[in-house]
Amino acid sequence: MSIVIWADGRLCGVDDPVATAVDHGLTVGDGIFETCSVEGGRAFALTRHLRRLARSARGLGIAEPDEDAVRAGIDAVLATAGADVGRVRITVTAGPGPLGSNRAAAGSTRQTVLVLAGPAVRNEVSRAIRVPWVRNERSAVAGLKTTSYAENVVALAEAYRRGADEALLANTVGELCEGTGSNVLVERDGELVTPRLTSGCLAGITRELLLEWASADGLPVREARAGELAFEVLDEVFAGSGHLALAGSIRNVVPVVSLDQRDITAGEITLAARRLFEARSAENVDP
Ligand SMILES: Cc1ncc(COP(=O)(O)O)c(C=O)c1O
Repeated sequence: MSIVIWADGRLCGVDDPVATAVDHGLTVGDGIFETCSVEGGRAFALTRHLRRLARSARGLGIAEPDEDAVRAGIDAVLATAGADVGRVRITVTAGPGPLGSNRAAAGSTRQTVLVLAGPAVRNEVSRAIRVPWVRNERSAVAGLKTTSYAENVVALAEAYRRGADEALLANTVGELCEGTGSNVLVERDGELVTPRLTSGCLAGITRELLLEWASADGLPVREARAGELAFEVLDEVFAGSGHLALAGSIRNVVPVVSLDQRDITAGEITLAARRLFEARSAENVDP
């Protein structure tokens, strides 16, 4: 299917202009976004995604987007998209601005709000590599889902170059942090453990739902304790004494079956977590 685009209250063609050349999202990455998977023609966990969109706006210091308008955009693109639609993407930028990093005076411009629907490829497993670049857990935008994703683009390109589909990053103090577009979980000693938010990782919706559902179901999935998940934990996984999982909106919960181009096995709790996520997400499209 092709991509369906909604901008400024109406559906547009792919070649229609939707933003000016001085849009601050385009010039300096001054924007925020969300990606939801689409299940049965509806955006999955939309309420949580919109909540995080508002949180990212506050963190960036731009106005919170009008939720009704964004929901209308989502309805419009999903009503038009074909049956094979797999994802919706919401992008909100600060709108037109100066050529430098300073913003236009508050209230002097309008935000750019775009909603897109498109296909998604969903893999049952993932292949990951370690990359030498780090997440800055003390960054001004740590934990926000901003459109400044060039670091992720570079790391993911490296992953693809090495036959993988995700790159894993440490933070500046050597803790395991996350992937370019996923949260990471380590399975060892009968538990599935994910880095704490203080590591600088995104508060992933998939991660959040898995933690809630696992806790309700008695599956041992939890956040790491302080100092528990150094990046070196991946050495253990690489050596075969642990397992890895990734969590993210298009992937859902998947085992990692290769690390740095060496096969690794899927863990039992990881597979149980994948089953649990599939079952619970099928019950309610907006949990
Ligand atoms: C950097 C990063 N971490 C984690 C995630 C997973 O978050 P979610 O489960 O909300 O998709 C994403 C999603 O794209 C991401 O971009």
